[in-house]
Amino acid sequence: MSLLQGKKALLTGASRGIGAAIACALAKEGASLTLVAHPHHEQDLKQCADKAKGCGAKECNCHTIDFADTAAVQKFAEQCASQNYDVLINNAAIFGSHKAEELGPLKGNPDDWDRVMKVNALAPMRLIRTLAPKMVDKGEGWIINIGDVEAVHEGPHHPAYAASKYALRGFGLSSYEVLRKHNVRVVDIAPGNVAQTGMSEKSDMHGGQGAFNPDDVAEAVLFCFRLSKNAVPEEIVLKAVKPGTAA
Ligand SMILES: NC(=O)c1ccc[n+]([C@@H]2O[C@H](COP(=O)([O-])OP(=O)(O)OC[C@H]3O[C@@H](n4cnc5c(N)ncnc54)[C@H](OP(=O)(O)O)[C@@H]3O)[C@@H](O)[C@H]2O)c1
Repeated sequence: MSLLQGKKALLTGASRGIGAAIACALAKEGASLTLVAHPHHEQDLKQCADKAKGCGAKECNCHTIDFADTAAVQKFAEQCASQNYDVLINNAAIFGSHKAEELGPLKGNPDDWDRVMKVNALAPMRLIRTLAPKMVDKGEGWIINIGDVEAVHEGPHHPAYAASKYALRGFGLSSYEVLRKHNVRVVDIAPGNVAQTGMSEKSDMHGGQGAFNPDDVAEAVLFCFRLSKNAVPEEIVLKAVKPGTAA
């Protein structure tokens, strides 16, 4: 029996990179999917949806939205509430600038930080706030947030981005405690360096010198569903075995 047979999953940031890998992994396990990405890349999203169908997704719908548009996010979240999702995976995020220095205390435009906070933290928090009560009513559910080691270990290097990931991690860890007694499981998956994604290719942040693959993050997601019904990991931190060596 597949892990997610009969389950409905909402996955953000599904047009490429880690999200596209997670979409295929969920599809192979028999989930019905709603895949979400920014309107600028609708074509990429559709291609990922076709791939997910090829991987075995029972159903696969696409939705485009800009997570920086708060009103649109709220409307979308309310529409999603009636869909009875079993799984929410908050994966979409932006780095905010191609250069780390422009995200920090000495350089960069704080208006750009608003967008980083909205996309990486506030939009996922709104989705959680809207979907979690439905999961509680149903008596089960999974919320998986894709975070970053920048918000787990000392010495983050990309201030505004790290701030957004700390915010989501804080909301997730608090929600973990509130929701697990209702059989709704919240997990923060914090990858280190992941290669072959839009984010790692465009920024000075990740990938580049080599890292592990998006499929490894997708495997970490599946690991959560493989556990027995009475277990829930709070956080999963993933790092490359040999930093600087391509996986
Ligand atoms: N790559 C790494 O090394 C690394 C390491 C640690 C954690 N992470 C985390 O892993 C997750 C996925 O990252 P990735 O590397 O796979 O990045 P990616 O390839 O750049 O993918 C980002 C996804 O987020 C979507 N997105 C971006 N801005 C959006 C917006 N305003 N509204 C709606 N959707 C938006 C993108 O949609 P479009 O394609 O339509 O723009 C895309 O599907 C992120 O949470 C990231 O912080 C990545």
